[in-house]
Amino acid sequence: MLIKLVVLTAIAFVYAQGGEIKYASKVKSLYKEGDDKVVGRLLPTAKVEVLEQKDNKVLLRIKGYTQADAQVALYYAPNRRILNAGFSKNSGVVFNRIESFKESESKQEWNLASVDLWSDNVDLVDKVEPLYQEAQELFANCSICHALHPPKEFSANAWPSVVKSMKSRVGLDSDQEYLLSQYLQKNAKDMPKEK
Ligand code: HEC
Repeated sequence: MLIKLVVLTAIAFVYAQGGEIKYASKVKSLYKEGDDKVVGRLLPTAKVEVLEQKDNKVLLRIKGYTQADAQVALYYAPNRRILNAGFSKNSGVVFNRIESFKESESKQEWNLASVDLWSDNVDLVDKVEPLYQEAQELFANCSICHALHPPKEFSANAWPSVVKSMKSRVGLDSDQEYLLSQYLQKNAKDMPKEK
């Protein structure tokens, strides 16, 4: 009886936990079931839930914020162009709406939504902190030619173009560019402090 209870509790626990939480460490291609056509990209540091593994692929649940009429991206926060994932225009990807709310800053309707898509079973890590650590190390190179422009100097929407214009000066490859942008965006002047 006791053993049965323990087993049932364990099963309930695993079920309630859902899939395993992982973070993309690089820019990752996203696919629909049984199709190799790339429909979108997952960005470094984006949090995902691993729902299933098959061969060398994983089914990922990606969450993010989106506006009702735009199914091109899932953002890390409403009103900030910080991508968790971006989708090609005619991808036909359909989001599952989790909740809708009127966002106080824009006074517009935003949704928290999710989508389940496949990706290659590589470049997924258990912890996000080492990725931000790596980003900080990349960022340190930005003070070779001039004083470091701190994350709080620009808004979340402004940082990606700054990084893009400077990336060749520090020799960033595109994964590093997106990783550094994510770090700077999430620490930008218009971002609330992490709770
Ligand atoms: C090889 C030298 C060099 C490196 C390395 C470098 N920068 Fe610059 N940066 C410059 C120069 C030169 C300017 C001013 C002229 C210009 O904007 O091209 C500048 C200007 C800037 C500005 C001011 C732009 C503005 O509109 O006010 C920012 C912000 C900036 N850099 C950020 C960065 C970041 C972030 C990195 C690291 C990814 C970086 N820089 C790495 C040379 C460099």
